[in-house]
Amino acid sequence: MKEKELMRTAMVRHRRKEIAVYRLSDGIYATDNSCSHEYSPLCEGMIVDNNVYCPMHGSRFDIKTGAVLDLPATSPIKTYQVKTEDGWIFVKV
Ligand code: FES
Repeated sequence: MKEKELMRTAMVRHRRKEIAVYRLSDGIYATDNSCSHEYSPLCEGMIVDNNVYCPMHGSRFDIKTGAVLDLPATSPIKTYQVKTEDGWIFVKV
């Protein structure tokens, strides 16, 4: 995906895996798109500071580390390395 096309969040696919990509104040980050609770799409969640709130039940995750910060989710989400080059976003899966 082109860097200028990313507003706040987006979902990209790699084979059958969905990855959420986020633009934060200090850069671009990526996590699994599925909430670890019941698989709701995190790319549709609200972003506050460096956290994403699951749109289904409100669990909060740290986008940079994947740590779960609020119940009902109890497991972290996977994070991915991101780099930008020549205006493109690359996610290491
Ligand atoms: S599906 Fe995300 S908190 Fe329940």
